[in-house]
Formats: sequence, C-alpha cells, structure tokens
Amino acid sequence: MFEQVLQEVETQCREERIPMLGPEKAEFLAARVEKAKPTLIVECGTAIGYSGLWMLRVLKRLGSGRLITVEIDADRAHRARDSFKRAGVADLVDSRIGDAQEVLKSIDTPVDFLLLDNNFSNYFPCFQAIESRLTNPATVLADNVGIGANDMADYLAHVRDRYECETHWFDIDLPWVKQDAIEVSSYRR
Ligand SMILES: C[S@@+](CC[C@H](N)C(=O)[O-])C[C@H]1O[C@@H](n2cnc3c(N)ncnc32)[C@H](O)[C@@H]1O
Repeated sequence: MFEQVLQEVETQCREERIPMLGPEKAEFLAARVEKAKPTLIVECGTAIGYSGLWMLRVLKRLGSGRLITVEIDADRAHRARDSFKRAGVADLVDSRIGDAQEVLKSIDTPVDFLLLDNNFSNYFPCFQAIESRLTNPATVLADNVGIGANDMADYLAHVRDRYECETHWFDIDLPWVKQDAIEVSSYRR
C-alpha cells in the first residue's frame, strides 16, 4: 500500500503542478536520512506529503525517529495527512498547519535533521527560528539552491560562512524544472 500511495502522490503533484522534490532528489534525501539516523526531522513545506513519505519510509525501516512537517496551506496539509494515514506511517509524523517561521519557534526539543523546502525567502528566517535547537552535529538540507540562490542569498551566506556545505546538482524530470541543486550543511557548533 505504501508504494501505491507514494505513486499516487507523485502523479497528483505532476498533474496539478504541486511542487515536490521529484524522485531524483527524493532518493538523495532518503539516503541522507538513512545515513543520519535522526531522532527528529523537521520539514518546512509539506505540500501534499511527497518528500515526507520518502523520509517516513526510511524512519519506519530504521524503527526509530519521527518527523514534524509544517505547511501553511491547510488543504495541502490535510491531503498529506490522509496520505500518511493510508501509507501506514501516520504514527511517525506530526503534521502542523501554519507559517513555519512561527511554528518552528514553538519546537523546544532537539532537532538533528532539518529540511528547508518552503519558498526561498523563508529559508533564513526558518533557520534562525530553529538554529538554537539544532543538535551538534545536525544535518540541514535546503532544496532549490540552484534556481533560488538569489532569493535565499542571506541563508546561503550564513551557512556557507559557518558550516561545512556541499552543493549537489541534479538533472530532474519535472514539468517545471530540469536542473536544480540541494545544499547539505553539516551543522557543528
Ligand atoms: C516546494 S513545496 C514543498 C514540497 C515538498 N517538500 C515535497 O517535496 O513534496 C513548498 C511548500 O511550502 C509551503 N509554504 C510556503 N511558505 C510557507 C511557510 N511560510 N510555512 C510553511 N509552509 C510554507 C507551500 O504552500 C508549498 O506547499
């Protein structure tokens, strides 16, 4: 059932042009989650749950870790919740509706994995909202650092100045973008 739900969500994103990572970047994300074996992942930008499903599949296999995912669009968040339920991973995820810049301030537990994927200009305020709760070390992934570099210049300058950062480029088969990058920042105090 899990694979069927993931396939349905991917198809809906393509047909309705709902932004999602797409399989090329999602595989990379899943491998990073597998490597980090996180206790708590925070995702900014749930959309309808595509990237969430990829991360939750790894957490389920690992038998540990949970996900807090934040989405400002209530309809999208409800669709994601429905998919998490149908895929059998709802017990591993806390789906929150609201502006991630505010919601992140209310998370008072340590965070060891962060995914920024909620419109470029939000990255830096979201990072600042959670930075003091990042564990040492923590893994931070930021999507769209290729196409969104100008709009997230403040975020990129901040992490590149302070943390070990790698930029990974991908050829992507999505209707709205063909090439883009993810930045991985290894957060160490
Ligand atoms: C690129 S999509 C997320 C894709 C998703 N991570 C995936 O791969 O399936 C960005 C999402 O961020 C949401 N968003 C935009 N601004 C936000 C904010 N301030 N707080 C939370 N979500 C926001 C949008 O509504 C949109 O659904």
